[in-house]
Amino acid sequence: MDHFIYRERKLYCEDTPVRELAEKYGTPLFVYSKATLLHHFGQLQSAFAPANPLLCYSVKTNGNIHLCRLMAERGSGFDVTSGGELYRALQAGGTGDKIVYAGVGKTDPEIRMALDNGVFLFNVESEEELHNLGKVAASMGKVAGAALRVNPDLPPKTHAKTDTSVKGVKFGLDIETVLDVGRGILGNAGVRVIGLHMHLGSPILKTEPYAMGAAKGLALIDALREQGHPISVLNMGGGFGIHYRKQEAQPAQAFAEVILPAVEKANCRLVLEPGRFIVGNAGILVSRVLFTKETGGKHYLIQDAAMNDLIRPTLYGSFHRIWPAEPAVGLPAPPEDYELAIPDTFPQDVVGPVCESGDFLAQARSLPRLKRDDLVVTFSAGAYGMAMSSNYNSRPRAAEVLVDGASHRLIRHRETYEDLVRPEVEV
Ligand code: LLP
Repeated sequence: MDHFIYRERKLYCEDTPVRELAEKYGTPLFVYSKATLLHHFGQLQSAFAPANPLLCYSVKTNGNIHLCRLMAERGSGFDVTSGGELYRALQAGGTGDKIVYAGVGKTDPEIRMALDNGVFLFNVESEEELHNLGKVAASMGKVAGAALRVNPDLPPKTHAKTDTSVKGVKFGLDIETVLDVGRGILGNAGVRVIGLHMHLGSPILKTEPYAMGAAKGLALIDALREQGHPISVLNMGGGFGIHYRKQEAQPAQAFAEVILPAVEKANCRLVLEPGRFIVGNAGILVSRVLFTKETGGKHYLIQDAAMNDLIRPTLYGSFHRIWPAEPAVGLPAPPEDYELAIPDTFPQDVVGPVCESGDFLAQARSLPRLKRDDLVVTFSAGAYGMAMSSNYNSRPRAAEVLVDGASHRLIRHRETYEDLVRPEVEV
């Protein structure tokens, strides 16, 4: 469910026409719906309520501090993966007792920053890292809380670049080694192993991987407790998939049905690190047609958003729905299902101004004929859109706007040319 709805052939975000936003703030523009964001967070809260979980919004998904602040106000914690993300979470009102910190390469200054801010759980990804964490914490007279991140070695479940629980990826501890690592850290004064962590990959459309991962996790928790570790946290990470094409994703309830029984059996506090599920469909990318062009037998729709704004299509071959914000009378209405043939359309490559043949938001996409200045919307752009954007080709990053009913406000200004060169000029 989201609040991007066509009314009489005009796209609205909640009660605000998208055209009004494009005219006021310019394009390319990320537009977020507050109601959608909170709705998705609420769905997770209620589905997992029986376990009283700690939901840690994954900052990497979309770290805008205004969105993070909305999360903090609703009681969310944060999943961070760098000092920068920790800084954002704290700026947004997050507190260390609700922050978990993952990543294969935490530096000593990052570890110290996290300990200074009372981060409750370090998701530890290697034996060397675990011992280093103990050393840094002990040098500060502190004891770090750690969860061993395990790679449960499951069958492939999503794009190879974002599958984190198959053999051979850089994440976590090989499942066969977890107990040796556990044994080796017993008695360390700087670290207490209090949890088990797994993040299976992203996005995951099925629930089976969570059931399989949790089953493997339960056996490990028992064994770690036998070793003497006071395991009280089961962190199942993030990864819940969303609708990109049609209604292909599972509701929060479906994931809860496989995760909750495992948590009960483990007698642990549940931690989750959802990102995409909360913000993915709460954001769109609005752009404007610059030109159309035919070449090599292909039709190109050249618009002002590019791979530097949304890199997912070219990086992962990801599908994002794309449709005009205001399909004129005579053009087809937005389709329910982008996999079915759409009348009155023809295949077009939706591209931007960046100097790479790989600069596209969609290829051979069925779209109606559009013309210069028409507004185009790329949907499901709230997750890993702005967060993965860049200044490639010295393109200023897009602006971001938060809509609440009929009101809206800028939550990140469009970068200026001065912004682009400031770190080089002010050296
Ligand atoms: N926890 C950990 C440890 C993670 O590495 C991630 C995402 C999450 C939680 C949040 O996953 P989510 O709930 O958002 O699926 N750039 C890719 C996705 C990379 C995911 C990285 N880790 C994309 O655009 O699809």
